[in-house]
Amino acid sequence: MEIQVFEQEGIFQLNTEHTTYLMGLADGKYLGHLYYGRRMQDHEGRYLLRAKDSAQEVYKRYRDKINFMDSFHFEYPVSGTGDFRDPGLRVRDEGGYRVCELHYAGYEILDGKPALKGMPATFAGKQVGQAAKTLVIVLRDEVLKLKIELRYSIFEDNDAIIRSVVAVNEGEKKLYLERILSACMDMDNDGFDRISLHGCWARERHIQAVKLGQGRHVIGSVRGESSHYVHPFLALTTAGTSQKMGEVYAMNFIYSGNFLAEAELDHRDSVRMSMGLHPDGFEWVLAPGERFETPEAVLVYSAAGLGPMTRTFHSLYRNHLIRSKYLHKKRPILINNWEATYFDFDDDKLVAIAEQAKKLGIEMLVMDDGWFGKRDGDECALGDWTVNENKIRCGLKALVERVNALGLKFGIWFEPEMVSPDSDLYRAHPDWAIQAPGRELTMGRHQYVLDLTRQEVVDYVYESVASVIRSANIEYVKWDMNRQLTDLGSFGLDAEHMGEFSHRYVLGVYQLQERLLQEFPDLLLENCSGGGGRFDAGMLYYSPQIWTSDDMDPIERLSIQEGTELMYPLSTMGAHVCVCPNHSVGRVTPMETRAYVALAGTFGYELDITKLTEEEKEKAIGFNQLYHRYNDLVREGEYYRIASYRENGMYDCWQVVSQDRTESLVTYVQVRFETDQNSRRLKLDGLDPKTRYRLEGTQEVYSGEMLMNAGFLQEMIFGDYGSRLLHFVAENR
Ligand code: GLA
Repeated sequence: MEIQVFEQEGIFQLNTEHTTYLMGLADGKYLGHLYYGRRMQDHEGRYLLRAKDSAQEVYKRYRDKINFMDSFHFEYPVSGTGDFRDPGLRVRDEGGYRVCELHYAGYEILDGKPALKGMPATFAGKQVGQAAKTLVIVLRDEVLKLKIELRYSIFEDNDAIIRSVVAVNEGEKKLYLERILSACMDMDNDGFDRISLHGCWARERHIQAVKLGQGRHVIGSVRGESSHYVHPFLALTTAGTSQKMGEVYAMNFIYSGNFLAEAELDHRDSVRMSMGLHPDGFEWVLAPGERFETPEAVLVYSAAGLGPMTRTFHSLYRNHLIRSKYLHKKRPILINNWEATYFDFDDDKLVAIAEQAKKLGIEMLVMDDGWFGKRDGDECALGDWTVNENKIRCGLKALVERVNALGLKFGIWFEPEMVSPDSDLYRAHPDWAIQAPGRELTMGRHQYVLDLTRQEVVDYVYESVASVIRSANIEYVKWDMNRQLTDLGSFGLDAEHMGEFSHRYVLGVYQLQERLLQEFPDLLLENCSGGGGRFDAGMLYYSPQIWTSDDMDPIERLSIQEGTELMYPLSTMGAHVCVCPNHSVGRVTPMETRAYVALAGTFGYELDITKLTEEEKEKAIGFNQLYHRYNDLVREGEYYRIASYRENGMYDCWQVVSQDRTESLVTYVQVRFETDQNSRRLKLDGLDPKTRYRLEGTQEVYSGEMLMNAGFLQEMIFGDYGSRLLHFVAENR
């Protein structure tokens, strides 16, 4: 890892272990993007600016200034002075002008990695070899008196580059930030394809790869959360990119609210790739002396396909983003009562579930929605976080004690950001719900959203949640968020500041979770949003695991988990064994397949275990043993995608290899059976070629070389939805 600045030549060079990022100055003032790709020692890339040195030459080369501005590969493009592509920054002054030109004004190299105030941020790791360095490049608009700091952080042990932007008003007049993205990158097109993730409730993060055509290709969320529908991830890949081949330029956003990700291909075959806060409805007022920090965007380049990109993200998030003490620990196997009982439960029923759970080797009972206020359905009581003593007749403390006495931990569900119209909280504080004056509030799942831009609301919400946690031995919280934001605005913001609303809301959520972790450092937090509507890197800073999707059907989960694993470590994916037929899609699948797919994440159950047959109980005991046997490997190992059901329509396969390559777990799911087929060759990955691996439970021994090049022969399994777990263990090491 090194950051070098060649002042004479006006070149900035960032080197990670395998990549180089080069920027250069044209005419001593315009900061241009030169190169991002395979690591190089050489920094002499000035010619890539396509510009000679003096302003006259620069403009002549491009015929005149406007042509220069509209074609130069800017490192952080602005609007109003001739660059007509979508900008990184658009700023309005008090006179209503949206004209800006940023000139280079200096740089600084910092040891380490600055944190962001009130927001998630990557950090230098605590271990030797995990240090970080940061390059800060300062740009200025002397007319606006606006200072922009571009931050680039790199790590000793990782190839990612972290970018964020700071705007400082150094003048006497207000400035209005209408668009301030975290990262932009101008490149020559290389016949790129564009990969993004799309879906909906119960079908999150399906991978889509399409050819990048001319024009602006924007994905984003204006729903107040990162959302089920699109994901804050974008990659450009060269033609034919696979797991092992092709160049990949990826961006992922460490943020949980409205975002934009864009690839714009222009008539010169230049691509501008950008990511940041969604500008729709956004405006931040920068008063004299004030500063604004953007969230962080992660850039990853891979010269060898999607596999290395994925593993770079995984190790970045494991070593430099997730703070939880549970990150490297086996999480308790849990039973969640939601799909077992929905709202129809009481203390005795929960204790009966816990008793059965204990016999099966389950370690924690999670009491889901319905334990508070008068909540017997989803139409009331959100916000009234006091235990419903008609259901939990013994009281919460006693219930937790009963469950603890059985040897199980206890976890609880909250939806702290919400209020039901039929709730004591709403009756007392109707103005705390987000609303636009004079309009009917838009209902979503029978509920409104609390205005977390107001500190008194944040404080109230915090106290109501924290007092429940203080009242009993609660070791886990599932933090849910079940609707999107509408009727945007706050009684706490004046008209001039109303554009700050959506970002301030997210800051309110972050503040709440930060306070929770400060007061309850031992709490295991799992984020959730109607399934995986807020499964993003921002939330991982607060919770080491996130509920991946409400759809637990193992076949639906194949594509959901494949998309999620594309950048998030397996240890972050909430995954449970569901009831059969599945409640979301009605599919009937073998219990083994439901379990093997769930073993790829945090493990648990979400079905009425008191109704299992004896055979199913035996199986569950076995699955729990498998979890204990394999979870260290799954959680800490390197992930390889071997085959994708999304692509082949037949079967899915992924593999985890221990860091020392002495063992590997392969999960194979055969979605469809076909007659008259040969066994399949699964070409494994990540093994040591010279090591011989024995397939657990057999006498079969294979060299790593053979398994990776020729493949493992997987017999067809009769019937649909069959699956296998294959555990390979090194023999001669
Ligand atoms: C959301 C969650 C579910 C469950 C319900 C309860 O949909 O994703 O797991 O907690 O809310 O209402």
